[in-house]
Amino acid sequence: MKGTTRQTPMNVILIGFMGVGKSTIANGLAKSLGFDVLDTDKMIEQSQSRSINEIFATDGEESFREMESIILANLIGSTERSVISTGGGIVTREENIKKLTSIGIVFWLDAGVDSILDRVSGNRDRPLLKTENPRKKILDLLSEREPLYERCSDERIQTDDLSVDEISYGIAETARVWFSK
Ligand code: S3P
Repeated sequence: MKGTTRQTPMNVILIGFMGVGKSTIANGLAKSLGFDVLDTDKMIEQSQSRSINEIFATDGEESFREMESIILANLIGSTERSVISTGGGIVTREENIKKLTSIGIVFWLDAGVDSILDRVSGNRDRPLLKTENPRKKILDLLSEREPLYERCSDERIQTDDLSVDEISYGIAETARVWFSK
């Protein structure tokens, strides 16, 4: 708005369930905006020198959530002009919701259970989906998390029928409008 100063830093944050394409889209988007790309999962793996699978297996989900919250907290005030891809469960900690909204414009990449199942099947990197009935697990987690994604996001994008390029283009144009305010 004319005459007002932008309150939120110039970052684009991607949230959403496992398998919706956050990392892939973050890379294309960062190129098109000329931003850096950050990935909270990768940052955790680097800081721990072990994979997310190993962290879950050895320390459990709660420890992973703690690490995720610390990584996010460290981004506050230290990041500008970045596309930040986040882990699908980052919104499950209340404290993270405020933090995410304070560091940039938040896009929720939404997808239905069938697309998610399609995209995660055959991938062994997601400890929470190593279960007898991944469809049920996804549905349970989605019903718990959808209200949280909703609360956290500035924009929601239904990705099911869109290509990676279409999604990236839509986000880039929306972000440019936001950043020009
Ligand atoms: C998780 C999502 C994963 C990763 C971890 C837990 C979740 O990230 O953070 O396996 O709770 O949904 P992606 O969403 O990038 O797969």
